[in-house]
Amino acid sequence: MVGSITLAIIKPKAVELGHTGAIVHTINAAGFCIRGLKMMRMTRELAEEFYAVHKKSDFFNGLVEFMTSGPIVVVSITAENAVVSFRNTIGATDPKMAASDTIRAKFGTSMQMNAIHGSDSDKNAIRETNLLFAPEEIFDQKRS
Ligand code: RTP
Ligand code: MG
Repeated sequence: MVGSITLAIIKPKAVELGHTGAIVHTINAAGFCIRGLKMMRMTRELAEEFYAVHKKSDFFNGLVEFMTSGPIVVVSITAENAVVSFRNTIGATDPKMAASDTIRAKFGTSMQMNAIHGSDSDKNAIRETNLLFAPEEIFDQKRS
């Protein structure tokens, strides 16, 4: 039993600022198990599908522009209660409001450039993982 899954994206600004290694370390140090990890660049089509739930929001176009502006690092994660515990690890959407020991507080630079994405439900975690990873890019390991 490997627990449940969630999907993280280290966003373009955090990658550009060189925070990838520190963020991946934080994910592992917080007890999450990495089952998939790659660097990629989203196409506009993929970003629009990924964030389809926000299509009617006034920040949608800016969000798609930003998320396609440079490379991202996508991470498929497993843990007990992965979605909720990872949301606690990344902190509030606005880095200024995030608790000081969270990834967004440490590495986010604005509401939009908040360093990292985390799935908001088990259903979305599966949908997002299937959007960004092929089955052969996922490596579930038995825990010793
Ligand atoms: P995420 O999906 O990236 O993990 O973030 P979240 O659940 O904490 O926040 P959500 O409401 O899903 O928003 C998605 C991303 O859109 C950008 N955003 N900008 N008012 C704004 O300018 C605004 N609101 C949201 C952020 O990058 C947010 O992470
Ligand atoms: Mg969200």
